[in-house]
Amino acid sequence: MSQLDVIAFEKFNTKIFELWAKDWLLLSSGDYSAGRYNMMTVGWGSFGVLWRKPFVMALVRPQRYTLPFMNEFDSFTLCAFPEQYRSALNFCGSKSGRDYPDKAKEAGLTAVASGMVKAPSYEEAELVIECRKTYASVMEEKSFMDPATAKEFYPDGDWHHIYFGEILEIRGTEKYLAK
Ligand SMILES: Cc1cc2nc3c(=O)[nH]c(=O)nc-3n(C[C@H](O)[C@H](O)[C@H](O)COP(=O)(O)O)c2cc1C
Repeated sequence: MSQLDVIAFEKFNTKIFELWAKDWLLLSSGDYSAGRYNMMTVGWGSFGVLWRKPFVMALVRPQRYTLPFMNEFDSFTLCAFPEQYRSALNFCGSKSGRDYPDKAKEAGLTAVASGMVKAPSYEEAELVIECRKTYASVMEEKSFMDPATAKEFYPDGDWHHIYFGEILEIRGTEKYLAK
């Protein structure tokens, strides 16, 4: 387990495209203390500024078991892991909490209470981003500028549900701290 320190927003440093597309993140939602939560690997999303505050955006397809947790609960976390946990992210990105009630454990991860939100984070994480859900919507076919994009990515009409979360706190290893 690495030591995670609070990182001020303006000091948060990462290769953002690598983080999403190559390293991947674990999206978790629910209530850790109630034992009701789920997690899934995500590779598409964004970080930015909205309504004068730092935010993240994550996308969840309707067939994911994580979806009802994202809708019911008012917070979520995004966590990144050292490379040695790639197999855990592969597990959480291919197996469903529907079939694995203790999905994190099956993946070899230890869920722990987060500092500011109900959604869990993980002992093995090297980056924990705690978020308060601020906005949710669903993609619509009519909103695509290029119908080919909709056809390519949503042939079954399983439009992504879009979640914005205000970032309440970032904790990470030195790797994520700007020098
Ligand atoms: C690298 C990677 C990235 C993924 N990104 C997303 C994503 O951004 N949104 C999504 O809905 N599913 C994504 N998935 C698929 C889910 O993680 C996967 O379907 C998972 O098993 C869902 O778990 P659940 O049913 O317990 O929610 C990704 C999978 C992988 C391996």
